[in-house]
Amino acid sequence: MLMFPTIITILSYFQSSCQGDIGKSFLSSKQNHQETCTPLDCGADDKMSSSHPSSALVLYAPPSFLEPFQQKRRTFKLSGQVVHIHQKWNELGVAAVVWDAAIVLSEYLEQEVLTGRLKINDKTIIELGAGTGLVSMAVALLGGYVISTDRQQALSILEENIKANLDGPLESARGAVTVKKLDWEESAQEFSNTFDLILGADIIYIEETFSKLLSTIKALSSNSSKVILSCRIRYDRDTRFLTMLGEFFTVSKVYTDEARGIDIYEAISVDTVAND
Ligand SMILES: C[S@@+](CC[C@H](N)C(=O)[O-])C[C@H]1O[C@@H](n2cnc3c(N)ncnc32)[C@H](O)[C@@H]1O
Repeated sequence: MLMFPTIITILSYFQSSCQGDIGKSFLSSKQNHQETCTPLDCGADDKMSSSHPSSALVLYAPPSFLEPFQQKRRTFKLSGQVVHIHQKWNELGVAAVVWDAAIVLSEYLEQEVLTGRLKINDKTIIELGAGTGLVSMAVALLGGYVISTDRQQALSILEENIKANLDGPLESARGAVTVKKLDWEESAQEFSNTFDLILGADIIYIEETFSKLLSTIKALSSNSSKVILSCRIRYDRDTRFLTMLGEFFTVSKVYTDEARGIDIYEAISVDTVAND
């Protein structure tokens, strides 16, 4: 008799804390274990905003999609060079793991540069919400000089990863990565200059930051800047950011990785388009 209310309670807990597809898959699962979800896929804020892991994270038998996050070290090949990335999912959360959007953006940039469609030599380049720094390292290995930025709380994992690759691939890279703090919630005035290329991978995920993120992008861009965002659109509300961006830039989807569910958008100043 007592079993029934207990099951209902667990189901409602997961329905309210995890309303994405993952929540649905839990509800339809016949397995006798509790599923879990990343804060992003649950639509919750990330762990860095709180000193405690999200209450939605009830690890019992970790599902396979979490497996890459739980690896302490991952290895990638960028421009033919082997790059090692340290991850600290349990301690630091979303900034301390490599998201698919970063992998797809790194691959995309490599293609664009190799085919000559994108020039990065002699360009000023900044990455927002760089996390573990994979995209910034991809840029440096392609010959670009990039300022890799994130919030204060995320700088340690970013610096650790850049340093870990300094004696390896980054030593012989034609470009370089410089790490700096840039919190969209604060003013971007420290960056008095604008940038030719503004990059971001999986940075559209907290609705409350959208207007500040947009202000940051506007502050860092000029009429000739190009913004390239690699996105996993998890919820309708995420597309709202692209609409907001579209008020100041001409935004186009330039690439889709269907297998990974990632879209890449490029945005250029409306003035640039008008003057073409
Ligand atoms: C989902 S992670 C993506 C990390 C990395 N770009 C990747 O794709 O692997 C989102 C990133 O946005 C950063 N972020 C969130 N809010 C921010 C803010 N207000 N200012 C700067 N960065 C922020 C997080 O610290 C984190 O590194």
